[in-house]
Amino acid sequence: MKLSDNKATLSFSNGKAAVELPVYEGTMGPDVIDIRKLYGQTGMFTYDPGFLSTASCQSAITYIDGDKGELLYRGYPIEQLATNCDYLETCYLLLYGELPNATQKAEFDERVTRHTMVNEQMQFFLRGFRRDAHPMAILTGLVGGLSAFYHDSTDINNPEHREIAAIRLIAKMPTLVAMAYKYGIGAPYMYPQNNLSYAGNFLRMMFGNPCEEYKVNPVLERAMDRIFILHADHEQNASTSTVRLCGSSGTNPFAAIAAGVACLWGPAHGGANEACLNMLEDIQRNGGVAKVGEFMEKVKDKSSGVKLMGFGHRVYKNYDPRAKLMQETCNEVLAELGLEKDPLFALAKQLEKIALEDDYFVQRKLYPNVDFYSGIVQRAIGIPVNLFTGIFALARTVGWIAQLNEMISDPEYKIGRPRQLFTGHAPRQVQPIGQR
Ligand SMILES: CC(C)(COP(=O)(O)OP(=O)(O)OC[C@H]1O[C@@H](n2cnc3c(N)ncnc32)[C@H](O)[C@@H]1OP(=O)(O)O)[C@@H](O)C(=O)NCCC(=O)NCCS
Repeated sequence: MKLSDNKATLSFSNGKAAVELPVYEGTMGPDVIDIRKLYGQTGMFTYDPGFLSTASCQSAITYIDGDKGELLYRGYPIEQLATNCDYLETCYLLLYGELPNATQKAEFDERVTRHTMVNEQMQFFLRGFRRDAHPMAILTGLVGGLSAFYHDSTDINNPEHREIAAIRLIAKMPTLVAMAYKYGIGAPYMYPQNNLSYAGNFLRMMFGNPCEEYKVNPVLERAMDRIFILHADHEQNASTSTVRLCGSSGTNPFAAIAAGVACLWGPAHGGANEACLNMLEDIQRNGGVAKVGEFMEKVKDKSSGVKLMGFGHRVYKNYDPRAKLMQETCNEVLAELGLEKDPLFALAKQLEKIALEDDYFVQRKLYPNVDFYSGIVQRAIGIPVNLFTGIFALARTVGWIAQLNEMISDPEYKIGRPRQLFTGHAPRQVQPIGQR
């Protein structure tokens, strides 16, 4: 953090003395006003529900320029990572700050591959769930449950424990997600297979069965890998902030990541791709492309309560760079599977075309986000809709872990403890029950 020559002055209309506040500069993006001493100096808090103007930490991991539609992991544009690197290289980059060389990559891949199995006892834990349980309910439980199985990596203040917990979480998430899926359909679990890539192994654990050999389709493998890369981190979003806040109490990494999984489950966060696919299916049922114009009129009519799901973003006020990459993957996957004429894809492209030319969307800077196409890709691969958020959790685990480890290693880190503006009753007396 670099102290700026610039300073902020806060003055008050009630005659209270003005205070001078230091300003810090980042490498890119807005400067921050340091208000840490504000309460001590003025007896006042700041008010910012939803953190619209509050930087909750300093971070060197991910940078988003929402106006430009730019996403960088450790300084590298997402487009370059998605085309030149695989997911495990991206994990290495997010965790350690640099892309691996060939030897480092081979070692890292080997380490992750050697940790993909879960304790055999986990399947009995899983058996306690109803078969129709939502996969996110199962995953929240299983990820939290890992802390009961891996006692040698639960001390968040020990760098070696943090390192081994990171590897274990990245390695075991695909196994747990696939187990949650297989359990739901009553199929046998598939053990991981070490000669396959991270994405290939996941596809086999999802769609293979013990009776026959599973051949990984390289186009689908690449598509899965790209979905993982695009979802690997996204700076201080709701689930990442949850992981940081949860971990700030010193709880173990598995518990902190389980909190992230729980937060991600919400429809305003990880559940949006599911909502987008449901929307496309609804339009399709009601007449498809021919009814797109009618649907868009409803979207623009505020009283209808209808939104174009997969459009708009809190941070991106331009094309989400991940949406472009996902559209490309969508083309590849549908061509590979002979689904070029997939009506939902045609519908999505038509909706996008209209929206990009329509004043309502242009004026509000509403562009497609990553979820607009990711649901179509996942559906084509064969992933059930209720598992979409689980796939997102799998991919985001590395981001959560990298951010958690960054926070714990930061000498300025403190337990997260927001303040409040109290609007309830002033002190009052309890009356005997008969007089209330
Ligand atoms: C993501 C989202 C919650 C961002 O919300 P936000 O930053 O609070 O932005 P706002 O809700 O203030 O949007 C600004 C304006 O655009 C409108 N708008 C935003 N997203 C819209 C959408 N998908 N369809 C129609 N109108 C939309 C809002 O109604 C608002 O209009 P107004 O200024 O006339 O009141 C919002 O765009 C949304 O709900 N999108 C659909 C769900 C989705 O795809 N989520 C995935 C996020 S990765």
